Amino acid sequence: MREFWKEHSKDATVEEMMLDSRAKELTQHELPEILSLLPCLTGSRVLELGAGIGRYTGSLLTLAGHVTAVDFMESFVERNRQDNGHHSNATFLQADVTKLDMPKNSIDFIFSNWLLMYLTDEELKSFAEKMMGWLRPGGFLFFRESCNHRSGDFKRGLNPTCYRTEAQYNHLMTSMEVDVQEGGQMFGFDIVLKKKVQTYVQMKNNQNQICWLLEKVPRSPGTQNGFNSFQQFLDNQQYSNRSILRYEKMFGAGYVSTGGPSTTKEFVTC
Ligand SMILES: C[S@@+](CC[C@H](N)C(=O)[O-])C[C@H]1O[C@@H](n2cnc3c(N)ncnc32)[C@H](O)[C@@H]1O
Repeated sequence: MREFWKEHSKDATVEEMMLDSRAKELTQHELPEILSLLPCLTGSRVLELGAGIGRYTGSLLTLAGHVTAVDFMESFVERNRQDNGHHSNATFLQADVTKLDMPKNSIDFIFSNWLLMYLTDEELKSFAEKMMGWLRPGGFLFFRESCNHRSGDFKRGLNPTCYRTEAQYNHLMTSMEVDVQEGGQMFGFDIVLKKKVQTYVQMKNNQNQICWLLEKVPRSPGTQNGFNSFQQFLDNQQYSNRSILRYEKMFGAGYVSTGGPSTTKEFVTC
């Protein structure tokens, strides 16, 4: 992955960040869209991972109490420092996020925009557990990834990026449980929001840019109808294949509740 980013960090430009020739135009729409999805950051301690040249760092610094921006490419960290170093509440770190360490429960909000797809499955699993440890209970994790296939039009010789499906991220993030303090209290992530990035839908007809906002919550075994989380209950019982087939028998193909095609047609045409 370092080799990949060495090849794409020669100029430290917004085009390299987005690996797209239309980056300047795209970022104008994407930035406000993504920022509008974040929770209130007033006074909060923010960790921005894979910050690149700081496309988001400047805005996060104006919203939050403190921002630590991390990236492993020296030229990107330098450009971020040049552009945003005048903020007194910024720390810039050149580090590989998989080797990063932070005190437990010390962060209110973790932000990453296109980072997890540059980690292998094994790295991602242990990294997600680390992030859970760094966040305080009730803290939030925002991440946005290219799912299924690449989004940018830049030529890539070697491309080791891992384009996971939306379902893979859902499963990985909501199924893990971590005993952060090693005292028996388990924590997990609940999905607060999951959305397609509309800028990419509208400007590139690309439905595969997905972002998630997760909250770190305590888990008590078996509290959600015998499941550890509401998501697990939905995936394994409420909307298991068997249950969906049963719903469709009652409500019609493609429907899991009352309505059916005639009602849908009426709603969308009025
Ligand atoms: C597509 S860029 C996105 C940068 C920025 N978040 C943005 O949206 O403009 C991905 C960034 O992740 C960084 N990155 C990838 N793997 C990393 C790792 N293991 N540790 C730290 N940074 C990493 C790259 O150097 C690059 O700056």
